[in-house]
Amino acid sequence: MLSADQLREGVMRMAGQINQRYGRRPLTIVGVLTGSIVLLADLIRQLEMPLRIMLVQARSYRGRSIAPGPLYVDASSLVDLRGQDVLIVDDIYDTGRTLEELISLVDATNPASVRVAVLLRKVGRQEIVLEPDWIGFDIPNEFVVGYGLDYDGLYRNLPFLAALEPAEIQSPANDGEPRA
Ligand code: IMP
Ligand code: MG
Repeated sequence: MLSADQLREGVMRMAGQINQRYGRRPLTIVGVLTGSIVLLADLIRQLEMPLRIMLVQARSYRGRSIAPGPLYVDASSLVDLRGQDVLIVDDIYDTGRTLEELISLVDATNPASVRVAVLLRKVGRQEIVLEPDWIGFDIPNEFVVGYGLDYDGLYRNLPFLAALEPAEIQSPANDGEPRA
């Protein structure tokens, strides 16, 4: 769906806009594990301000299903963000449940500002209406893997983004690994 070159350009474009917005002001990134690891690694190396990085684990248990299940966010590593400019970074804005939960958890720590950057927004899937401040790409409503995103734990290491063929989606049983 998106080549490694296209992804690189999209991430550079977002990084340029984030650099412009914050200038030299210190920034705290809250990265959402596990899907954002590749994006984070590429994005932060393009950012020029003094940067802190915090990681939180979020899971919507899907296993081999591609429908989202109950959401679990482990925010125990979220320390006090009082007075800090916070940028939440996630792989994809799908239903929006994960971002909604994270925004409210971050908000509760009294940061100076909270903004959101996502690599992907899946068109037509949103249950929670949000306005991410930066979106790398709008993509059609297909289940995608690669560049950090998985299916049943696999494919995160693909350097490109690929739509999973319906035939590759094995069983709707929600009995595989948790997806994050
Ligand atoms: P949400 O539905 O917006 O809360 O997204 C929950 C999480 O599901 C995302 O952070 C991704 O990790 C994962 N997810 C959503 N859509 C896809 C997809 O197409 N492929 C792989 N993971 C996905
Ligand atoms: Mg995720």
